[in-house]
Amino acid sequence: MTAAPRYAAAARWLHWLTAGLLVVVIAAGLWIVFFEPRDEGFKLRLYNIHESLGVIVFVLTIVRLMTRWRRPPPPLPADTPVLIEWSARVTQLSLYALLLLMPAIGFLATNAWGFPLRVFDLIALPSPVGKDEALAATLSFLHACGAIAMGTLIGAHLGGAAYHTFVRRDNLMDRMT
Ligand code: HEM
Ligand code: HEM
Repeated sequence: MTAAPRYAAAARWLHWLTAGLLVVVIAAGLWIVFFEPRDEGFKLRLYNIHESLGVIVFVLTIVRLMTRWRRPPPPLPADTPVLIEWSARVTQLSLYALLLLMPAIGFLATNAWGFPLRVFDLIALPSPVGKDEALAATLSFLHACGAIAMGTLIGAHLGGAAYHTFVRRDNLMDRMT
């Protein structure tokens, strides 16, 4: 039996690095919103970790899309049902869109609330929008909607991985590990 074709090493590393970073980004985002820390210094650090790692996810996603363009993913097994193939494609495309949109919207929202970002308190990023609370409220609302969409898509993605592993037993995970 020949080994299943795999994603390129860079694609695999970037996939798992992004997934790991997202766990921290999402946990910090939910912490800020639902369990707002009383200690002001700690709260600001939490914001900074969330925002800085979010910017890193944005940069990694650009790198990932460039490597994907140079080394396209291996073809799916020929017997993959069309419906499965398309639902996976739509989920993955939407995830890529949100991996770019969430940091961009979050960054602009923070700017519009009047807080320019210094990545890990070291690298000051330019503020493309000035303070504008009406715009900030709209962007924050979109960021929260995006967070719900992202949670749903990650759930669907994990459901797909579980379906392939436990129901179809087609070793799909080997492509990404
Ligand atoms: C939580 C954050 C995650 C995000 C944002 C994410 C995103 C993605 C994206 C965008 C792709 C498409 C890759 C491409 O074709 O360019 C992909 C593929 C894949 N992901 Fe994830 N993923 C995440 C977590 C996971 C986890 C936890 C698992 C395993 C349990 C997993 C298993 C896979 C597998 C097996 C593929 C390859 C599917 C195929 O062969 O076509 N992912 N992921
Ligand atoms: C992949 C990137 C990102 C993800 C998945 C993400 C996710 C989240 C989540 C789940 C929350 C809590 C739910 C809510 O919004 O009410 C949140 C809140 C927040 N995020 Fe992000 N975020 C990302 C990037 C960023 C970036 C880059 C910034 C700013 C530079 C940012 C700024 C904020 C702020 C200020 C909040 C607090 C709630 C608010 O005022 O809107 N996020 N984020």
